[in-house]
Amino acid sequence: MARKPLIAGNWKMNETIAEGVVLAQEISNEMEPDWLDKVDVAVCPPYTDLKPVYTVFEFDKLNIGVGAQNVFWEPSGAYTGEISVPMIREIGCSYCIVGHSERRQYFGETNDDVNKKVHALLKDRVQPIDPIICVGESLAVRDEGTYIQFVDAQVKAAFAGVQADVAKAAIVAYEPIWAIGTGRTATPEQAQEVCGAIREMLAVMYDQDTAASIRVLYGGSMNEGNASQLLSQPDIDGGLIGGASLKAKSFVQIVKEAL
Ligand code: PGA
Repeated sequence: MARKPLIAGNWKMNETIAEGVVLAQEISNEMEPDWLDKVDVAVCPPYTDLKPVYTVFEFDKLNIGVGAQNVFWEPSGAYTGEISVPMIREIGCSYCIVGHSERRQYFGETNDDVNKKVHALLKDRVQPIDPIICVGESLAVRDEGTYIQFVDAQVKAAFAGVQADVAKAAIVAYEPIWAIGTGRTATPEQAQEVCGAIREMLAVMYDQDTAASIRVLYGGSMNEGNASQLLSQPDIDGGLIGGASLKAKSFVQIVKEAL
C-alpha cells in the first residue's frame, strides 16, 4: 500500500510569536502548493505560536498542517499549566507529537502517559488530530544491542488498547536519542532496520493491512543533505525534523526530497 509521506517540523521551544510568523511565512513562500498533493507537511511550533502560524497558512490557502508538541489527556479541569485535546483542536491542529524523548527525559513522561495521550487524541475522529508517537533508544541501549526490543516495548505500550481502525491514523516517529540534535544521523540502514521492526511489531499487534497503513517516520539530525537516502528506505515514510525545520529553505528542501 502506498503511504503518503509526512514531513513534520518540530520547532521545540524556539520562535516567539513574531519570529514564528516570519518563519511560517518564509516556509509558505518557499513551498510549491502542488507538492502538498504528494507530501503531507506540518509544523509543530510552541503552543503560543499555534494560532498565528495556522493563520499564516490559512491566509495563503496552503495545505500545511499545524501540530502541537504535547497535550494532556483530560479534556478540562484543575490541571494548572496543561493544555487539552479540545483546546488544540479548536486552534486547528491536525497533528500532535506525543512522547518525544525530551519530554520523557526532562519531564518524566512514561509509556503509560504516552498511551493515555494517544487514546485522548484518537477518541474523536470528527475533526481528527493524528498523534505522532515518538520512540527511540539511548546510546547505552544501542550499545547493549537491545534497541529493537526497547523500541518494540515503547510501541506496544503506546498502542495498548487502541483498536486497529483508529490505530491507522497514528504515526510513529523513530528517533534514536543519540541522533537528536547531535548531527550524528542514523545511517539509512540503521534507520530502516528499526522502522522495519516497528512495522513488523504493528503487524503482530494488529494485522498486515493496519501495519501497512501506519506511517513510520525517522527523526534525528535529518537535513537536506541526508534526507533523500533516508526517505528512500522502504519503511521510512517521512521525517520529524528538529534543527533543520527552523530554516525555511532547509525544511522545504527536505519536503522536496520526499516527493
Ligand atoms: P533534530 O531533532 O532534527 O534537531 O535532531 C529531531 C527531533 O527531536 O524531533
